[in-house]
Amino acid sequence: MNFLEDRIVKEGSVKPGGILKVDSFLNHQLDIALLEKIGREFTRRFAGKPITKVLTIESSGIAIAYPVARELGVPLVVAKKSHSVQLNGEVYIAEIESYTGKTVHQVVVAKKYLCSEDRVLIIDDFLANGCALQGLISLVDAADATVVGLGIAIEKGFQEGGHRIRNLGYHLESLAIIDSMDAESGVITFRQQP
Ligand code: G4P
Repeated sequence: MNFLEDRIVKEGSVKPGGILKVDSFLNHQLDIALLEKIGREFTRRFAGKPITKVLTIESSGIAIAYPVARELGVPLVVAKKSHSVQLNGEVYIAEIESYTGKTVHQVVVAKKYLCSEDRVLIIDDFLANGCALQGLISLVDAADATVVGLGIAIEKGFQEGGHRIRNLGYHLESLAIIDSMDAESGVITFRQQP
């Protein structure tokens, strides 16, 4: 087990409906030492790739993406879920459809923060159905920039997102991939990774 899997087993709790709560170290209270370790691990996994920007989505992606951008020494761009009036006309917009297709919301990035020369590493905390990641990829595409890779702290491997993104040919690295988890017993099974 790696350091993140170990922490998930120790402090994560499985809720009905396939939800993993990691509030004590990732989503509510933040363990800064752990986040810094995550930053170093992503930097190692994407070593040798020229990266000019890290891109994440508010809000919980920021905590994971910040130490990555710091390690890489590049700016962190945060895609915003609300479309501020001041940004009208100067933003790239992507639609994020919920898995059920019942709701659609927009995410935006100001055009001045992504350009065609940018080589972007996308970072987020959770990957479930991949809707958020696909929205972020669309924003990079809209800027004619390049997605160098995608880094996720916790991928729920029993949902479709990881499969979908890898099938599109992207380099996706997830520090912990959960293949199954059981709300009753609390047992979590991780996918073996090289
Ligand atoms: P998707 O983008 O991969 O399709 O994810 P989905 O729509 O299923 O999830 C919506 C939100 O729920 C996302 O946060 C995602 O990070 C979070 N999420 C999904 N599964 C889990 C889980 O098992 N545990 C926890 N703790 N969160 C999960 P968001 O809407 O972007 O909100 P925010 O918290 O980043 O502001």
